[in-house]
Amino acid sequence: MHTSVLLKEAVEALIIKPNGIYIDGTFGRGGHSAAILSQLSEQGRLIVIDKDPQAISYAESTYGKDPRVSIVHRGFGELKAIADDLNISGQVDGILLDLGVSSPQLDEAARGFSFMRDGPLDMRMDTSRGQSVAEFLAHAEEKELANIIWRYGEEKFSRKIAYAIVSTRELQPLTTTLELAKLIEKSIPKVDKFKHPATRSFQALRIYINRELEELEQALAVSHSVLKSSGRLVVISFHSLEDRIVKQFMQAQIIPPSLPRGLPLRQSEINSLQKMRWCIKMQRADENEIAQNVRSRSAILRVAEKL
Ligand SMILES: C[S@@+](CC[C@H](N)C(=O)[O-])C[C@H]1O[C@@H](n2cnc3c(N)ncnc32)[C@H](O)[C@@H]1O
Repeated sequence: MHTSVLLKEAVEALIIKPNGIYIDGTFGRGGHSAAILSQLSEQGRLIVIDKDPQAISYAESTYGKDPRVSIVHRGFGELKAIADDLNISGQVDGILLDLGVSSPQLDEAARGFSFMRDGPLDMRMDTSRGQSVAEFLAHAEEKELANIIWRYGEEKFSRKIAYAIVSTRELQPLTTTLELAKLIEKSIPKVDKFKHPATRSFQALRIYINRELEELEQALAVSHSVLKSSGRLVVISFHSLEDRIVKQFMQAQIIPPSLPRGLPLRQSEINSLQKMRWCIKMQRADENEIAQNVRSRSAILRVAEKL
């Protein structure tokens, strides 16, 4: 199962109205969804989205018969199309995105997300489409690979790792998580004794293969048109790359873009350029939660409300 992070804080931030319409863009194992549903009346609606077929089967087995719930197997990057298909664009009271991977994805070796468990080198959240990491590594150019590991993993030994991957695959294809983890371990110095040397590269490949940052940018960009006035956007991120995107997006909605000097505008006109307001600029898990769930240590919650 998956222990939901910042569960109470994120759901409280949505300010659930019993008859409201909510979107949980990252259903996972439905911890946040269950808390939202417990506050909805029979007229309320919850749209649950996940890319992962296993998360979707879990949603179907749990909520398939609940008339308040619509279950959507798509990426949340398609948020606007999903809302349009359901005729709820501009009517949504709250959107929740709890980013990254779920514990079942990490724990099941066959998904290939973990460098601690031997499994096929897959890492796709949506196993029904797209290329796996093994397929990508079989043909990626060395320079492209180095750039991905540098950009999405912030790994300073990215070039060494890319070189090791490309030289090894000429002798034999890389097909398992432990093969890749060991190869990375051998090819770079161990600088951080608390972190496995493959941590950053695995993060980078996962982000790349699932288009995680692009999907996040796409969802944020349309969130304003999906929400109704006073609707809330609640995002929990787990690493600096995604948090930077969330923070910069919310900031840009909140602080009006700079205007040419001397433009004759009233304060009210300037204020009207502001599209959202901060509700929670930044919140982290408290000590108790971190003690019980180590994953929550890196979580950052940010909440903005459409004006
Ligand atoms: C951290 S878990 C969510 C856990 C959930 N809030 C809970 O309490 O059980 C993230 C989930 O979002 C899904 N996911 C990540 N990126 C996605 C995307 N772009 N579109 C749809 N689902 C995505 C993953 O497959 C995973 O199931």
